[in-house]
Amino acid sequence: MSLQPNKILGAVLAVAVVAFAIDFVSDQIFAKQDLKTPGYVVDMNAAPAVAATEAPAPAAVAPDPNAPAAVATQQAAAAPAAAGSDVAPIADRLKAADVAAGEKTSKVCTACHSFADSGANKVGPGLWEVVNRKPGTHEGFKYSPAMVTFGETHTWDYATLDIYLTNPKTEVPGNKMAFAGVKKPEDRANLIAYLRSLSANPAPLP
Ligand code: HEC
Repeated sequence: MSLQPNKILGAVLAVAVVAFAIDFVSDQIFAKQDLKTPGYVVDMNAAPAVAATEAPAPAAVAPDPNAPAAVATQQAAAAPAAAGSDVAPIADRLKAADVAAGEKTSKVCTACHSFADSGANKVGPGLWEVVNRKPGTHEGFKYSPAMVTFGETHTWDYATLDIYLTNPKTEVPGNKMAFAGVKKPEDRANLIAYLRSLSANPAPLP
Protein backbone atom coordinates (compact mmCIF):
# COMPACT_ATOMS: atom_id res chain seq x y z
CA MET A 1 0.00 0.00 0.00
CA SER A 2 1.18 3.53 -0.68
CA LEU A 3 2.29 5.85 2.13
CA GLN A 4 1.62 8.87 -0.04
CA PRO A 5 -1.80 9.92 1.52
CA ASN A 6 -0.38 9.64 5.06
CA LYS A 7 2.58 11.83 4.11
CA ILE A 8 0.25 14.52 2.78
CA LEU A 9 -2.00 14.33 5.84
CA GLY A 10 1.05 14.50 8.11
CA ALA A 11 2.33 17.63 6.32
CA VAL A 12 -1.05 19.38 6.64
CA LEU A 13 -1.27 18.56 10.35
CA ALA A 14 2.28 19.74 10.91
CA VAL A 15 1.51 23.11 9.26
CA ALA A 16 -1.62 23.45 11.39
CA VAL A 17 0.28 22.73 14.58
CA VAL A 18 3.00 25.23 13.68
CA ALA A 19 0.39 27.88 12.81
CA PHE A 20 -1.41 27.43 16.15
CA ALA A 21 1.93 27.54 17.93
CA ILE A 22 2.90 30.84 16.22
CA ASP A 23 -0.53 32.32 17.00
CA PHE A 24 -0.27 31.29 20.65
CA VAL A 25 3.26 32.67 21.01
CA SER A 26 2.52 35.99 19.29
CA ASP A 27 -0.55 36.46 21.50
CA GLN A 28 1.76 36.21 24.50
CA ILE A 29 4.19 38.76 23.04
CA PHE A 30 1.74 41.33 21.57
CA ALA A 31 -1.20 41.74 23.95
CA LYS A 32 -4.45 42.65 22.13
CA GLN A 33 -6.52 45.45 23.57
CA ASP A 34 -10.22 45.74 22.78
CA LEU A 35 -11.30 49.21 21.58
CA LYS A 36 -13.40 51.13 24.08
CA THR A 37 -15.60 52.43 21.27
CA PRO A 38 -16.03 50.92 17.83
CA GLY A 39 -13.93 52.39 15.06
CA TYR A 40 -15.31 54.82 12.41
CA VAL A 41 -17.78 56.68 14.58
CA VAL A 42 -19.44 59.39 12.45
CA ASP A 43 -20.38 62.32 14.65
CA MET A 44 -23.35 63.88 12.87
CA ASN A 45 -23.11 67.06 14.95
CA ALA A 46 -19.49 67.66 14.14
CA ALA A 47 -19.89 66.97 10.41
CA PRO A 48 -21.65 70.22 9.35
CA ALA A 49 -19.08 72.36 11.14
CA VAL A 50 -16.31 70.77 9.08
CA ALA A 51 -18.33 71.19 5.88
CA ALA A 52 -19.03 74.85 6.64
CA THR A 53 -15.37 75.75 6.91
CA GLU A 54 -14.48 73.92 3.73
CA ALA A 55 -17.42 74.93 1.53
CA PRO A 56 -17.54 78.45 0.00
CA ALA A 57 -19.89 80.81 1.81
CA PRO A 58 -23.31 80.53 0.09
CA ALA A 59 -23.84 84.31 0.18
CA ALA A 60 -20.78 84.83 -1.98
CA VAL A 61 -22.16 82.81 -4.88
CA ALA A 62 -25.87 83.60 -4.60
CA PRO A 63 -27.01 85.90 -7.45
CA ASP A 64 -28.32 89.28 -6.41
CA PRO A 65 -32.12 89.10 -6.76
CA ASN A 66 -32.21 92.85 -7.32
CA ALA A 67 -29.91 92.77 -10.33
CA PRO A 68 -32.26 92.31 -13.30
CA ALA A 69 -31.01 92.55 -16.87
CA ALA A 70 -27.35 92.77 -17.78
CA VAL A 71 -27.87 96.34 -18.94
CA ALA A 72 -29.17 97.31 -15.55
CA THR A 73 -26.18 95.89 -13.68
CA GLN A 74 -23.87 97.58 -16.12
CA GLN A 75 -25.60 100.91 -15.51
CA ALA A 76 -25.44 100.53 -11.76
CA ALA A 77 -21.75 99.66 -11.89
CA ALA A 78 -20.92 102.60 -14.13
CA ALA A 79 -22.86 105.13 -12.08
CA PRO A 80 -21.90 106.55 -8.69
CA ALA A 81 -24.17 106.58 -5.65
CA ALA A 82 -27.80 107.63 -6.03
CA ALA A 83 -28.69 111.27 -6.29
CA GLY A 84 -28.83 113.11 -3.00
CA SER A 85 -30.97 116.08 -2.04
CA ASP A 86 -28.28 118.47 -3.30
CA VAL A 87 -29.12 117.59 -6.92
CA ALA A 88 -30.27 120.60 -8.93
CA PRO A 89 -33.94 120.49 -10.01
CA ILE A 90 -34.56 118.92 -13.41
CA ALA A 91 -35.82 122.30 -14.71
CA ASP A 92 -32.33 123.74 -14.16
CA ARG A 93 -30.45 120.69 -15.40
CA LEU A 94 -32.49 120.60 -18.62
CA LYS A 95 -31.13 124.05 -19.57
CA ALA A 96 -27.64 122.59 -19.90
CA ALA A 97 -28.80 119.21 -21.22
CA ASP A 98 -27.26 117.65 -24.32
CA VAL A 99 -29.78 115.79 -26.52
CA ALA A 100 -27.07 113.92 -28.45
CA ALA A 101 -25.52 112.67 -25.20
CA GLY A 102 -29.01 111.68 -24.05
CA GLU A 103 -29.50 109.63 -27.20
CA LYS A 104 -26.31 107.73 -26.32
CA THR A 105 -27.56 107.08 -22.78
CA SER A 106 -30.88 105.88 -24.23
CA LYS A 107 -29.14 102.91 -25.86
CA VAL A 108 -29.68 100.92 -22.64
CA CYS A 109 -33.43 101.48 -23.01
CA THR A 110 -33.65 100.07 -26.53
CA ALA A 111 -33.38 96.50 -25.24
CA CYS A 112 -36.98 97.00 -24.09
CA HIS A 113 -38.32 100.21 -25.66
CA SER A 114 -38.81 101.54 -29.16
CA PHE A 115 -38.43 105.31 -29.65
CA ALA A 116 -39.94 105.24 -33.13
CA ASP A 117 -42.95 107.41 -34.00
CA SER A 118 -44.86 104.22 -34.86
CA GLY A 119 -45.24 103.88 -31.08
CA ALA A 120 -44.44 100.16 -31.33
CA ASN A 121 -44.37 98.21 -28.08
CA LYS A 122 -41.58 95.78 -27.18
CA VAL A 123 -40.87 94.39 -23.70
CA GLY A 124 -41.82 97.89 -22.57
CA PRO A 125 -44.26 100.41 -24.08
CA GLY A 126 -43.29 102.61 -27.02
CA LEU A 127 -41.75 105.87 -25.77
CA TRP A 128 -42.55 108.21 -28.66
CA GLU A 129 -44.30 111.24 -27.10
CA VAL A 130 -43.86 109.93 -23.56
CA VAL A 131 -43.36 113.41 -22.05
CA ASN A 132 -46.65 114.56 -20.46
CA ARG A 133 -48.30 111.19 -21.18
CA LYS A 134 -50.44 109.62 -18.45
CA PRO A 135 -48.47 106.64 -17.06
CA GLY A 136 -49.84 103.24 -18.02
CA THR A 137 -51.92 104.44 -20.98
CA HIS A 138 -49.92 103.72 -24.15
CA GLU A 139 -52.11 101.88 -26.64
CA GLY A 140 -51.73 98.12 -26.93
CA PHE A 141 -49.34 97.69 -24.01
CA LYS A 142 -50.20 95.43 -21.10
CA TYR A 143 -49.05 97.43 -18.05
CA SER A 144 -48.69 96.17 -14.51
CA PRO A 145 -51.54 97.14 -12.18
CA ALA A 146 -48.95 99.20 -10.25
CA MET A 147 -48.24 101.41 -13.29
CA VAL A 148 -51.92 101.85 -14.11
CA THR A 149 -52.63 102.91 -10.51
CA PHE A 150 -49.65 105.30 -10.61
CA GLY A 151 -51.15 106.90 -13.73
CA GLU A 152 -54.34 107.77 -11.87
CA THR A 153 -52.48 110.41 -9.85
CA HIS A 154 -49.42 111.24 -12.00
CA THR A 155 -48.26 112.50 -15.38
CA TRP A 156 -44.90 111.87 -17.03
CA ASP A 157 -43.75 115.46 -16.63
CA TYR A 158 -40.03 116.21 -16.39
CA ALA A 159 -39.85 115.94 -12.60
CA THR A 160 -41.74 112.65 -12.45
CA LEU A 161 -39.59 111.14 -15.21
CA ASP A 162 -36.49 112.35 -13.34
CA ILE A 163 -37.51 110.57 -10.13
CA TYR A 164 -38.74 107.43 -11.90
CA LEU A 165 -35.58 107.03 -13.98
CA THR A 166 -33.37 107.44 -10.89
CA ASN A 167 -34.82 104.27 -9.44
CA PRO A 168 -37.90 102.82 -11.19
CA LYS A 169 -38.57 100.30 -8.41
CA THR A 170 -38.70 102.87 -5.61
CA GLU A 171 -40.84 105.45 -7.40
CA VAL A 172 -43.43 102.96 -8.66
CA PRO A 173 -43.23 99.89 -6.40
CA GLY A 174 -44.43 96.74 -8.15
CA ASN A 175 -44.00 98.10 -11.69
CA LYS A 176 -42.42 95.64 -14.08
CA MET A 177 -39.63 97.70 -15.61
CA ALA A 178 -36.58 95.58 -14.71
CA PHE A 179 -34.06 98.39 -14.82
CA ALA A 180 -31.78 99.67 -12.06
CA GLY A 181 -31.99 103.32 -13.06
CA VAL A 182 -29.74 106.06 -14.41
CA LYS A 183 -27.88 107.31 -11.35
CA LYS A 184 -26.02 110.40 -12.62
CA PRO A 185 -28.24 113.53 -12.52
CA GLU A 186 -26.72 115.01 -15.69
CA ASP A 187 -27.11 111.72 -17.59
CA ARG A 188 -30.79 111.72 -16.61
CA ALA A 189 -31.21 115.34 -17.73
CA ASN A 190 -29.65 114.52 -21.12
CA LEU A 191 -31.84 111.44 -21.42
CA ILE A 192 -35.02 113.37 -20.58
CA ALA A 193 -34.05 116.07 -23.10
CA TYR A 194 -33.78 113.29 -25.68
CA LEU A 195 -37.17 111.82 -24.66
CA ARG A 196 -38.64 115.31 -25.08
CA SER A 197 -37.31 115.42 -28.66
CA LEU A 198 -39.30 112.27 -29.51
CA SER A 199 -42.38 114.17 -30.57
CA ALA A 200 -43.85 116.01 -33.53
CA ASN A 201 -44.42 118.93 -31.12
CA PRO A 202 -41.94 118.70 -28.23
CA ALA A 203 -43.36 119.88 -24.92
CA PRO A 204 -42.13 123.33 -23.82
CA LEU A 205 -39.11 123.36 -21.53
CA PRO A 206 -39.96 124.15 -17.90
C1 HEC B 1 -35.51 95.45 -19.05
C2 HEC B 1 -36.44 96.16 -19.87
C3 HEC B 1 -36.51 97.68 -19.73
C4 HEC B 1 -35.47 98.58 -19.82
C5 HEC B 1 -33.98 98.31 -20.01
C6 HEC B 1 -36.09 99.88 -19.70
N1 HEC B 1 -37.43 99.76 -19.54
FE1 HEC B 1 -38.76 101.29 -19.32
N2 HEC B 1 -40.27 99.95 -19.07
C7 HEC B 1 -40.14 98.58 -19.16
C8 HEC B 1 -41.43 97.97 -18.89
C9 HEC B 1 -41.72 96.47 -18.89
C10 HEC B 1 -42.32 99.02 -18.61
C11 HEC B 1 -43.79 98.90 -18.21
C12 HEC B 1 -43.83 98.90 -16.69
C13 HEC B 1 -45.14 98.47 -16.09
O1 HEC B 1 -46.13 98.29 -16.80
O2 HEC B 1 -45.13 98.26 -14.87
C14 HEC B 1 -41.55 100.25 -18.76
C15 HEC B 1 -42.10 101.54 -18.59
C16 HEC B 1 -41.42 102.70 -18.83
C17 HEC B 1 -42.00 104.04 -18.77
C18 HEC B 1 -43.48 104.34 -18.49
C19 HEC B 1 -44.14 104.48 -19.84
C20 HEC B 1 -45.63 104.62 -19.81
O3 HEC B 1 -46.24 104.54 -20.88
O4 HEC B 1 -46.23 104.77 -18.73
C21 HEC B 1 -41.01 104.92 -19.06
C22 HEC B 1 -41.13 106.44 -19.12
C23 HEC B 1 -39.80 104.16 -19.29
N3 HEC B 1 -40.09 102.82 -19.14
C24 HEC B 1 -38.59 104.70 -19.63
C25 HEC B 1 -37.41 103.97 -19.79
C26 HEC B 1 -36.14 104.56 -20.13
C27 HEC B 1 -35.91 106.03 -20.42
C28 HEC B 1 -35.22 103.54 -20.14
C29 HEC B 1 -33.71 103.62 -20.37
C30 HEC B 1 -32.98 104.51 -19.50
C31 HEC B 1 -35.94 102.31 -19.84
N4 HEC B 1 -37.27 102.61 -19.63
C32 HEC B 1 -35.37 101.06 -19.77
C33 HEC B 1 -39.00 97.88 -19.45
C34 HEC B 1 -37.73 98.43 -19.55
